[in-house]
Amino acid sequence: MQSNKNNESASDAKGRLHVSRNRAESRCPIILENSPDENHALLDSGNGLKLERYGDLNIIRPEAQALWQPELSPSVWNAAAAVFSGDVSEEGKGRWNFPKMPLEETWPMAWDDIHYLGRFTSFRHLGVFPEQSTHWRFMQDRIAKRIEEGKQFRLLNLFGYTGLASLVAAKAGAHVTHVDASKKAIGWARENQETAGLSEKPIRWICDDAVRFCEREVRRENTYDGLLLDPPKYGRGPKGEIWQLFEDLPHMVDLTRSLLSPEASFAILTAYSIRASFYAMHETMQEKFGDCGGTIESGELVLRTENSERRLSTSLFSRWVSK
Ligand SMILES: C[S@@+](CC[C@H](N)C(=O)[O-])C[C@H]1O[C@@H](n2cnc3c(N)ncnc32)[C@H](O)[C@@H]1O
Repeated sequence: MQSNKNNESASDAKGRLHVSRNRAESRCPIILENSPDENHALLDSGNGLKLERYGDLNIIRPEAQALWQPELSPSVWNAAAAVFSGDVSEEGKGRWNFPKMPLEETWPMAWDDIHYLGRFTSFRHLGVFPEQSTHWRFMQDRIAKRIEEGKQFRLLNLFGYTGLASLVAAKAGAHVTHVDASKKAIGWARENQETAGLSEKPIRWICDDAVRFCEREVRRENTYDGLLLDPPKYGRGPKGEIWQLFEDLPHMVDLTRSLLSPEASFAILTAYSIRASFYAMHETMQEKFGDCGGTIESGELVLRTENSERRLSTSLFSRWVSK
């Protein structure tokens, strides 16, 4: 993408260098709220725990932010089908308990009419991050608009995990490149593609280190109309490459900036469980995407509790959106 770079630099009376970078319009803070639906609902939270419905299952997991008292009675909590016990830190190991009856590893779920599998994993993750559905909806609308205009849309989904975003984009008509370092996660994503009946859709499943992949794509001068990155705080590539968000994110955002096509529509960054504000994500995106025009929107993804006004924040986000 052409940058309308006309950076001027001057030093002020105190000799401080002022580089007047172009900044995209800023919309921050923005709270993207996910309301309960038949697919997923936050039913209650409190005492360091959260109770959620995933498809037909009510599930309890640790939630360090839930500093308050639960609103629902203990009998509702005690009726949960699955409980994850482990330390409260997001990455902490633990184990699943099924107090009512033994459960299979997977169970049916759906978003809109995209069918996929919920999954008990060794960490506390459940094969999907429902709070991302605001991103999915946003992306779906933008891709569909382009397809209606008779144009193609190329999406790059980095740290793509079980591929819900990739399936949403492919169903909307995009050519998708899905990158994740975990062979297991790629296998689960392919299984979701089959479960959703989207096996004919053009999705490239790539098991690779996200930084290495993007560096190669930049060298090849490949570009994308939409980018998603949802990195963990800490991760490993298939060849042992280390990913550390606080060290590697600026370079990664720089690479994604270079992968934008001239007609790019969006670049969405989500970050979980890091000791940082959305302003840190916002300023990082402004520094790299500020000269692309458009808008940079940043804030938090939150879940609204069913039948309650309580909200639970899940992650930070920052997205560059073209005009
Ligand atoms: C939090 S999950 C992403 C969730 C996903 N965006 C979603 O919405 O379902 C983080 C993913 O990053 C992957 N990962 C960790 N380190 C990586 C690396 N260096 N390169 C690529 N993927 C990596 C993990 O395998 C995991 O699937």
